[in-house]
Amino acid sequence: MNIKFDYSGKNVVVTGSAKGIGKAIASAYAKAGARVIVADVSEKEGMETAKEICAGGGTANFVRTDVTEEQSVAALIDAALGLYGRIDIMVNNAGVVGRIKGDPLTDLDSEDWDRSYQINLRGVFYCCKAIYQTFVNQGYGNILTIASVAGKTGAPEIAEYSAMKAGVINFTQTLSRELGPKNINVNCICPGFVYTPLYENAAPIYKEKYPQMFKNAENGKGVVDEFCNQLCALKRAQTPADIASAALFLTSDEARSITGQALNICGGCEFR
Ligand SMILES: NC(=O)c1ccc[n+]([C@@H]2O[C@H](COP(=O)([O-])OP(=O)(O)OC[C@H]3O[C@@H](n4cnc5c(N)ncnc54)[C@H](O)[C@@H]3O)[C@@H](O)[C@H]2O)c1
Repeated sequence: MNIKFDYSGKNVVVTGSAKGIGKAIASAYAKAGARVIVADVSEKEGMETAKEICAGGGTANFVRTDVTEEQSVAALIDAALGLYGRIDIMVNNAGVVGRIKGDPLTDLDSEDWDRSYQINLRGVFYCCKAIYQTFVNQGYGNILTIASVAGKTGAPEIAEYSAMKAGVINFTQTLSRELGPKNINVNCICPGFVYTPLYENAAPIYKEKYPQMFKNAENGKGVVDEFCNQLCALKRAQTPADIASAALFLTSDEARSITGQALNICGGCEFR
């Protein structure tokens, strides 16, 4: 990243940061001088990520966290405060696409719906609830949620995911109104198509459901490229680093007047 943000003296918690977009966000904050908490349900990868950040000269600690459990999220905040004494920024990134069934909607069962709800929407609620009083007491804080453009456009093959992400956007707006008077900014990033390992599982399903669209896609990366080629004005995929750059901007002092926004980082696949 060429823009230089100075986050020295700041403490940042990033959920779902063992890999993918969350890892890029945690690493970018650490590179900018922040102390970060890598919070993830995956212990092995989470510890490796924290180790990698430290090996690169940053400060990071791993705290095993399952965002589907309220106790686990409350323990995360306690642990972060115990380690760093203060939390400045909470990034609610943990999320899953789940099993892609494709349309029709009747293929979707309540198990898929509930799992998506527990991680993608209720998890964000637990995290915001857990950090709420700390930020109010500090008279300062910054909350960032990671939704998806699917939460604005809808996506038939991932109906449950789209609905939860729409919920995250709306919840972000609600919370920004409630916390704005307390000097707490709450914003949302909506990524479009970022290649992460989750697309390797999705690729065969997309290829089977939409053989024409994905006839040239050989793997998960190919599926992402094809999506972007067909749907994004810029005709290229976004990267975890693109999302991290937006995160660092949105929680910076330079963005102090921005709150309640859902910023698309999607290469121009959606304009609302
Ligand atoms: N990759 C994309 O194209 C894309 C597009 C739009 C939105 N997003 C959103 O970005 C965020 C990150 O996605 P990604 O592509 O990096 O996915 P990823 O699968 O690479 O990483 C998700 C991380 O969340 C963690 N996680 C899963 N369940 C958890 C739980 N219960 N508690 C704590 N951590 C948990 C995983 O262990 C993993 O480290 C998600 O919210 C996702 O919905 C991604």
